[in-house]
Amino acid sequence: MERIVSGLTTTGTLTIGNYLGSIKQLINNGNKREQFLIIADLHGITVPFSPENLTKNSINLASFLIACGLDISTNHIFFQNQIVQHPELSYILVCHTTVGELVRMTQYKEKSEKFKLKNKTNTVPSGVLFYPALMAADILLYDPHFVPVGGDQKQHLELTRNIAMRMNNKYGEIFKIPEFVTQPNLSKIMSLTNPTKKMSKSNEDQNSYISVLDDASTITKKIMRAKTDSENKIYYDVEHKPGISNLITIYSGFSNLTIEEVTKKVASLDYGNFKKQLSKLLVSELIPVQEKFKMISENMEWKKVTQKGQQIASSMAAKKLSFIKSKIGLL
Ligand code: TRP
Repeated sequence: MERIVSGLTTTGTLTIGNYLGSIKQLINNGNKREQFLIIADLHGITVPFSPENLTKNSINLASFLIACGLDISTNHIFFQNQIVQHPELSYILVCHTTVGELVRMTQYKEKSEKFKLKNKTNTVPSGVLFYPALMAADILLYDPHFVPVGGDQKQHLELTRNIAMRMNNKYGEIFKIPEFVTQPNLSKIMSLTNPTKKMSKSNEDQNSYISVLDDASTITKKIMRAKTDSENKIYYDVEHKPGISNLITIYSGFSNLTIEEVTKKVASLDYGNFKKQLSKLLVSELIPVQEKFKMISENMEWKKVTQKGQQIASSMAAKKLSFIKSKIGLL
């Protein structure tokens, strides 16, 4: 069975952008492949966080994945911090990575600038710099065939492959070189209030995103208020009609119809009715998941599931790391 590794960071609540952009794919893959799904809490502490939110976000992420209906026999969901081999391997990888390679990462540059601006400082926590080495450890511990990535993580994957090849050259075959699959037709969901910017959970304007845990009336309210244009004609044109095009993309993601099929289906509607239909579509998919989510949080099913994931991942990670250590001469 093909193996996949993927990770979700514990920063903030999940939006429908995360849901359509990665979670749905993981759910669809999940029956055909073995998946290691990492709740990346150690990545979550590379930026300022509060302990309460860290705990809450971690539990919510695990519970939400389970609520979406992942097959638990082939999907191993676990908390990154509970497997000590992640930070340990990350340290070994850092020793085989240059400062230049880390500093060149676009995400490092972007995140540092953001951090400096927000905190009115000139320095940046070093976790932001080492972030990709931890991610490389997440991946290389499990010898996956594939890592599905969005555009913003491609560079980190390339770095992972480079470090792995470098170490294979030096010490012999230690790592399987992972392929990454980018999903080009994957929907990139934009902000509802500013549709030329990506939908982001860290945006202060709550109307700009829909959380997967928003209730029905909030979902409807946010969609009805979403920014459009004054033409009142529905067609897909990202440049001239970013708002409507974004709503079409969201419709497409939730209905599993292509952009063309959606456009055909809703072409005769006015914006108001289109938005009503779209709200209904979201509510009908998300509310049942939220009900399961509530149960899973209350009866602590997430704990059982992540313990099982932790056991499987941890025995594999322990073997892999001791093999790596022996290859590089650590007693
Ligand atoms: N850095 C990834 C992101 O921000 C999350 C992540 C952590 C990840 N570890 C991973 C993704 C391992 C793939 C594989 O989206």
